[in-house]
Amino acid sequence: MQETTLEGRLNDALWVRDFSEADLPQLTALYQEVFAGEVALSDGTVFSWGEYMKCSRCGVKYGRDEIGPGGEPGYQVAVDGKWFPLESCKRCGDDFRPATSSTQGGASLMPFWSDVSIREIVASTLGRPGGQIKLAFREGELLGFAMYFVNPYAPDVGYLADIGVSPDRRGKGIATALLSFVDQWAVQKRLSSVYLRTDQRNLAAVRLFEKNDYRSTGLREPDTAVEDFPWRIYMQKRLGPFGSPGDSDRGLEVD
Ligand SMILES: CC(C)(COP(=O)(O)OP(=O)(O)OC[C@H]1O[C@@H](n2cnc3c(N)ncnc32)[C@H](O)[C@@H]1OP(=O)(O)O)[C@@H](O)C(=O)NCCC(=O)NCCS
Ligand SMILES: [Zn+2]
Repeated sequence: MQETTLEGRLNDALWVRDFSEADLPQLTALYQEVFAGEVALSDGTVFSWGEYMKCSRCGVKYGRDEIGPGGEPGYQVAVDGKWFPLESCKRCGDDFRPATSSTQGGASLMPFWSDVSIREIVASTLGRPGGQIKLAFREGELLGFAMYFVNPYAPDVGYLADIGVSPDRRGKGIATALLSFVDQWAVQKRLSSVYLRTDQRNLAAVRLFEKNDYRSTGLREPDTAVEDFPWRIYMQKRLGPFGSPGDSDRGLEVD
């Protein structure tokens, strides 16, 4: 597999190549693991993305820390350190209990990043101008991914939509290696900059991007309705001779 599609050999064992359809199951599993997990915050505490499960009716997130294992008759919820059956949604109040002969059954809990939503992310990334999904493997095991494309509204601006590394393989330069492919792509496409959105509490991500010459643009998330709104920041990397001044306030339309 790697021999035919190999794009780069970064050190003795890390291989980076383009996504292909056959990678979807592995990519789905890694994506779910990366974004359902925990991140260390800049103040030294640990934070759960809270992107583990969601209500099928209203979409509210249930983090790993508040939902126990599923089973009969459903998921468990932590209240004051004890587990109780989760009977109704914390936001919309809809019934999570399974349908019986007398009740209809309402909402259900579903994985926040369902297989279907990841399939859609993959398809929409590859369907955008310049869309790329790079995968990093070590000994055949998928350890990291990066997804990026050209902003359809600003053809000289790239957008790094997603980057993630397997939780137990972090701190080994895998994300840095993936970012070097983003740089290479951006230069090939003669982009003036690449930007991204992240969470300013996400220490590993902010450090990673700063170390790779991304800087905060000072712009904030335009959508105050989203839960994470206060911490969302945009970072941008300017790319050498192709750049034109004043492009940092463009291109925020892409989600
Ligand atoms: C952010 C993430 C992709 C970094 O991947 P990684 O392969 O561990 O990163 P690297 O090993 O290439 O690290 C590069 C630099 O980032 C910084 N960094 C990485 N992890 C760090 C951490 N836990 N704490 C502080 N700095 C960190 C360091 O400066 C590091 O350089 P150094 O090793 O020379 O000190 C990974 O932690 C991850 O998948 N997190 C969850 C998903 C996520 O947050 N994605 C970004 C959201 S937009
Ligand atoms: Zn709900």
